[in-house]
Amino acid sequence: MNDNFQMIKVNDLTKEFHLTNGKISYLFRVIQNNGQLEHLYFGKSMRHRDHFDYLTEREVRPSNNQFEGDHTSSMEHIKQEYPTFGATDFRHPAQQIRYPKGDRITDFRYEQHKSYHGKPALTGLPATYVEDSTEAETLEIILQDTYSELKLHLFYTVFADYSAIARSAKYVNHGAETFSLEAAMSASIDFPDKNFELVHLNGAWARENQMERTPIITGTQSVSSARGASSHVHNPFMALVRPDTTEHHGEVYGFSLIYSGNFLAQVEIDTYQVTRAMIGINPFEFSWQLKPQEVFQTPEAVMVYAEHGLNDMSQTFHNLYRKRLARGEWRDKERPILVNNWEATYFDFNEEKILDIAKTGAELGMELFVLDDGWFGERHDDTSSLGDWFENRDKLPDGIKGLSTKVKQLNIKFGLWFEPEMICKDTKLFQEHPDWIMQVPGKSVSHGRNQFVLDFSRQEVVDHIFEQMDAILVDGNVDYIKWDMNRYISEAYSLALPAEQQGEVYHRYILGVYRLYERLIEKYPHILFESCAGGGARFDPGMLYYAPQAWASDDTDAVERLKIQYGTSLVYPLSSMGSHVSAVPNHQVGRMTSLEMRTNVAYFGTFGYELDITLLSDEEKEQVKRDIVFFKKHRKLFQQGQFIRLSSPFTSNETAWMVVSEDQSEAIVGYYEVLAKPNRPYERLVLKGLAEDKLYRINDSDVSRFGDDLMQIGLLFGENFIGKASEYWAKEKIKDFNSKLFHLKAITE
Ligand code: GLA
Repeated sequence: MNDNFQMIKVNDLTKEFHLTNGKISYLFRVIQNNGQLEHLYFGKSMRHRDHFDYLTEREVRPSNNQFEGDHTSSMEHIKQEYPTFGATDFRHPAQQIRYPKGDRITDFRYEQHKSYHGKPALTGLPATYVEDSTEAETLEIILQDTYSELKLHLFYTVFADYSAIARSAKYVNHGAETFSLEAAMSASIDFPDKNFELVHLNGAWARENQMERTPIITGTQSVSSARGASSHVHNPFMALVRPDTTEHHGEVYGFSLIYSGNFLAQVEIDTYQVTRAMIGINPFEFSWQLKPQEVFQTPEAVMVYAEHGLNDMSQTFHNLYRKRLARGEWRDKERPILVNNWEATYFDFNEEKILDIAKTGAELGMELFVLDDGWFGERHDDTSSLGDWFENRDKLPDGIKGLSTKVKQLNIKFGLWFEPEMICKDTKLFQEHPDWIMQVPGKSVSHGRNQFVLDFSRQEVVDHIFEQMDAILVDGNVDYIKWDMNRYISEAYSLALPAEQQGEVYHRYILGVYRLYERLIEKYPHILFESCAGGGARFDPGMLYYAPQAWASDDTDAVERLKIQYGTSLVYPLSSMGSHVSAVPNHQVGRMTSLEMRTNVAYFGTFGYELDITLLSDEEKEQVKRDIVFFKKHRKLFQQGQFIRLSSPFTSNETAWMVVSEDQSEAIVGYYEVLAKPNRPYERLVLKGLAEDKLYRINDSDVSRFGDDLMQIGLLFGENFIGKASEYWAKEKIKDFNSKLFHLKAITE
């Protein structure tokens, strides 16, 4: 029946579905007596069989059972695909629906399935995609609620080239009553054992994406956001790893949500050692009125299986997100080396100063000048003007158009900062539309950085901001936009929605953000977008669909950045990671690090500068020029090569990572030592990802080593790196915050 499909195998008789691409297998079936879905297996690929009956596990256990006389029909003891609460399962559900009667007992039963070549898009939401229908196959399971005219559609996409399954759910109300959706997760899965640890990314402003690994308790653990953005605090990601899993070894199950709003990633171990993992919109502070004939589509979750450690998982995410989540003209292009004026001037600039920076940037080889916050309204500090997106003529007498023309005459592109979702009370926009702020009538509303949140759940608000931005962009000659979002939403309430729909506001808000992005991208496809939210508070897969790069953190200190970039790389590719060289003493932590260290860290990302480059000494300028020449030469490798983490800043004084070209003919290794060590032992850095039989020349010297040798023995860290005796790691180099790059190039005979 399913002959046409290579990766979706269906056993019609036993109603088993096997998604496999030769690397991974995902297996589930329809339970015969209740039509619900039972999870059977997810992991390394397995050969297909004409039945998998033997994977069904049933024990008679003291519990509630669905069918009289049957003591194995407790859903609490059955591994499921998309569980519901009640009707014998007492664990956390993937869905909760309140019926008009007030109860929440559902009974979704298999009705039919459909298979597609390729992958259908998700209406209004970011998602992975294919360019050719042979790249993926999608299975849609349609379940019918026996108690209502609700249908539940579960989508599973298996990709030919990635060890990932993309999942989402769609609820369709074919009836005449309204239902309240109170939980609608994107994916859920029950693993047959509890032999896992939890890896996730947490943080705060200026210290985003700190990697944490913890044992999992029996009971429930989760990471989440209820801040209106994916947030600095947790990233919409978690991984379950085996206790012996390392960066390069052992099983990993990675879960990532393609969404920028409130999320929940949760793991629950029950008393029979089953591990339930789920990810989706955070049910806390969420409800959705599903009216007659309406549809609710959840965001997409991506589940990655990796056999060879965290790096293996990251590489799947990097490749999939770089090639089939990011979109548009910039997706495959090398990204411009930018210079941003924020840490150079903050709000205090005029046109002359800006042109000075742009001119110096162009002379040094930079390719894009970005004018950050402070160019509009009366914005001289952070108390004013958000929402009035027209130029301040005192600072910029010829407006944005005039400035961009002058900047471009210097032979450098022009970029501009916006914070479209925000409003300050001293603006014309607020005078005209005081009701556009998110606020509960009659109750106080909080500010964050002196600003308030525009109600992006309302189309007229989104349209108005589009028009303001469009007025600047239409003749502004803007090549790049930095889209910022500098506070969380705390009183999520829309004056345009009735009381019973207030639970929809957070989700409607983020849909409004997506709509504005979509409209701008459609009209200005050549503009490169970089998303930002007080640094990395919206560094999430949802944003990557619109903005192929994101500002990783407001913390530009090279040492702090080791952790931030290392953690961020767990899910996100280097081509997405905004990383700049900034001034010393560093503005966030006051640390002094060398230009070399700052550059060597920033190279592993999109790369740019964020300091007053007009103040650099001649010697520093020469250094910057050389660094830029080096980066341009190797930019493709940095941004499109395979990134591999070697040594973690979270557990070691030494951080190391590398990028390898697809054909393994070239690699660059970054090695960083935070504190200096006296009287050093012999040290070696074992590399990964090289071709065993290729001979690599190191740093253009006469030293060459084979790939297998470098991956077994490693680089020897003497001064000249060839194993000759050197004097205590070259005495002049004994210092804190030390770094070194190694360039490896295969020698072709
Ligand atoms: C946020 C961003 C910074 C900068 C400022 C401007 O903090 O993360 O990079 O753009 O806003 O106000």
